[in-house]
Amino acid sequence: MLDTVFFDSRFSDTVRREQLYNGRLFVFSARPSTIALCDFARSMIEAAFDGKDPRNAQYSMPVEEFVSICAPLKPAFIHHPMTMKLLRNVVEELGCSLNDTYVDVPRLRMVTHGGYLTSGVGYAHHPHRDTWYSAPMCQLNWWLPIYPFDSESSMAFHARYWNQPIRNGSAGFNYYRWNAEGRRHAAKHIKQDTRVQPHAEEGLELEPQIRVVCPPGGIVLFSAAQLHSTVPNTSELTRYSIDFRTVNIDDVVAMRGAPNIDSAATGTSLRDFRRAADSVGIPDDLILSYDSQCTEEGALVFQPESD
Ligand SMILES: [Fe+2]
Repeated sequence: MLDTVFFDSRFSDTVRREQLYNGRLFVFSARPSTIALCDFARSMIEAAFDGKDPRNAQYSMPVEEFVSICAPLKPAFIHHPMTMKLLRNVVEELGCSLNDTYVDVPRLRMVTHGGYLTSGVGYAHHPHRDTWYSAPMCQLNWWLPIYPFDSESSMAFHARYWNQPIRNGSAGFNYYRWNAEGRRHAAKHIKQDTRVQPHAEEGLELEPQIRVVCPPGGIVLFSAAQLHSTVPNTSELTRYSIDFRTVNIDDVVAMRGAPNIDSAATGTSLRDFRRAADSVGIPDDLILSYDSQCTEEGALVFQPESD
């Protein structure tokens, strides 16, 4: 259960993963590799905004202009050759084996103040588990702020739901259909998001909640099964963050991970992960065991695509 937040823990990666699969959180202070990654992201953001302070830019431009800056910035960050190198250094410095750890590409997120932009490129995440979106139960999420931020622009964890199932729409979610139909069009969704996503289908008690606030380059590390949400940003500033996901191959093989109490999504996001050491994908025969629930329709439209 989510009863503990470990700060700068020195656990081995193996012990840390066990703790994460039991619902605990880890927070790490900034260190050379995370500072380098966040500095790199910040330089890309600031170049894109061309002299405007990215955290205040929303006050001096129409939302369409903000989107026109951020929409290309996200894939530019994801696909820049430096990004994956810097990311590899982060997982290595945090004690993960580069041969056993597979990483997904890091995403760049922006959450604007108020109701300026709440969908598409600035999607504000409702309470969800990533496992409702076809993430494997062994997936771990890494989250890093790029600028200082406040509780009022953070991410929230809803601890009571670690072991309390929620009625939700994940059974209607297929990862391959999502890739084919949804993400490709994210840049078009400016004021209203029409993508079908798995939501809670019952009232949730979101309080009390846990918000972790750390300096730029700090890391919040948590299980993909953790119920989390984006706090509606009332901090006056746009928040920029990086997040990425990892899986450990031994856990993929053993089907170890957090307990699945309410996720019924089909398809799997495992094909998105690449071995940190050399970018080789997870062998297909391993993925197939995670794909067993996949509908034929889903398998046919499988099409790897990132953000
Ligand atoms: Fe999430």
